[in-house]
Amino acid sequence: MRIAMIGAGYVGLVSGACFSDFGHHVTCVDTDQSKIDALNRGEIPIHEPGLDTLVASNAKQKRLNFVTDITRAVGEAEVVFIAVGTPSRRGDGHADLTYVYAAAREIAKAITKFTVVVNKSTVPVGTGDEVERIIREENPEAEFAVVSNPEFLREGAAIRDFKHPDRIVIGSSDARAKQVMAEVYRPLHLNTSPILYTDRRTAELTKYAANSFLATKVAFINEIADLAEKVGANVQEVARGIGLDNRIGAKFLHAGPGYGGSCFPKDTLALIKTGQDFEAPLRIVETVVAVNDQRKRAMARKVAHAFGGNLRGKTIAILGVTFKPNTDDMRDAPSIPLITALQDMGAEIRVYDPVGMEQARKVFENVTFCDSAYDCARGSHAVTIVTEWEQFRALDLKEMAAIMACPVIVDLRNIYAPDEVVRNGFLYSGVGRPQSVAY
Ligand code: NAD
Ligand code: UDX
Repeated sequence: MRIAMIGAGYVGLVSGACFSDFGHHVTCVDTDQSKIDALNRGEIPIHEPGLDTLVASNAKQKRLNFVTDITRAVGEAEVVFIAVGTPSRRGDGHADLTYVYAAAREIAKAITKFTVVVNKSTVPVGTGDEVERIIREENPEAEFAVVSNPEFLREGAAIRDFKHPDRIVIGSSDARAKQVMAEVYRPLHLNTSPILYTDRRTAELTKYAANSFLATKVAFINEIADLAEKVGANVQEVARGIGLDNRIGAKFLHAGPGYGGSCFPKDTLALIKTGQDFEAPLRIVETVVAVNDQRKRAMARKVAHAFGGNLRGKTIAILGVTFKPNTDDMRDAPSIPLITALQDMGAEIRVYDPVGMEQARKVFENVTFCDSAYDCARGSHAVTIVTEWEQFRALDLKEMAAIMACPVIVDLRNIYAPDEVVRNGFLYSGVGRPQSVAY
């Protein structure tokens, strides 16, 4: 099968590489010349475990190409995926569909035969209808079908998620298109991943409902963590206690500094907007967004609490700035509002992240960028663990205590056992574990 992937970002590049690994012939198209040049030099523009070898082996076999010119790629393809960004529109929180519609116009001009145009970008209900209208308007002769096929991969585990999805959702009422999509995903289906065929609008809404539900789980457990601190309970054990109930499920119940990333924040906002537009308000999701926003400042107050609420003259070491481990993605990372809040309280900030430093330099001002966790901790009054990178799980606590100005650890991901940290002479604060607040 010949596939054109429009957009070679996180989703386009991972999907394109995985589809080519299944044996399909994939051409990734991106308007960003520097990205395509880098890919053609064998450089991967994002940090995603395993992606470099997957891209290299498929590019070598000539099953995976990178170009900026859409015409030939689409002209030769039986299936064209749209995997461009759908960020929050400035000012109102709606999904910005500029890139999707621009891609649809370009695709329309390049269609030469029956083509299945697949929206893999996360898009509001009705976007598939508009993409269909645009293609018909641009090229009235074109033979095509527009399908919704939302993507559920997580960054940092993207290849595994793509190759072993819990489900594949395909929204289309066109029999021919459904057959083509079945062929595209045949290797996964044989591998027992269920394919859910539905209509296009349902598929579009499914994606937003999934992300908003997961965001709700995270916001919920974070509020339970706050309560656990007050009443003397342990949120990790509560999460285990409820998560073993199959109706609830154990995943996405880790309390922390609030969710971030390139999807949850913008997708919850976009779903709220759709609800408002259609007079079916999503009051639960509205509350989730508000609770999650407030949490970042609350985490800064947690750090300040160690110093009587005053951070003037204090240096805070931030370990981890990406929104989660195993990615260099800083989009809507909790570290951003957290660091701003700490600076507003008068703190000096030192920052270290295992792979996010290049991105961090573009985002943060008036912070000291450090070369290692220890370099970051040196001379600081508190270390705050914001992202749970593996290498932060086994820090030499004796060494840390010796090089810090004041031995305080604020562990916003609960990666340490409080007793162990306190035994090493630290004041320790975790999330939702009252016994850990040792000051
Ligand atoms: P991204 O910003 O990393 O990549 C988008 C790419 O599209 C960029 O490289 C950009 O240059 C390119 N592009 C824009 N307009 C183009 C055009 N007309 N022609 C060719 N290329 C064009 O975005 P992403 O994170 O990959 O997200 C893409 C979509 O997938 C979004 O709708 C997002 O919500 C959704 N999604 C993302 C994730 C994730 O983990 N990042 C997971 C699931 C779904
Ligand atoms: C998410 C969805 O999980 C994925 O299905 C979708 O395709 C894209 O958006 P991603 O943003 O890559 O994936 O990461 P995810 O693992 O979902 O984490 C999102 C945020 O929630 C992160 O900031 C993470 O730290 C936070 N989180 C997640 C928690 O705080 N606690 C948890 O238990 C789980």
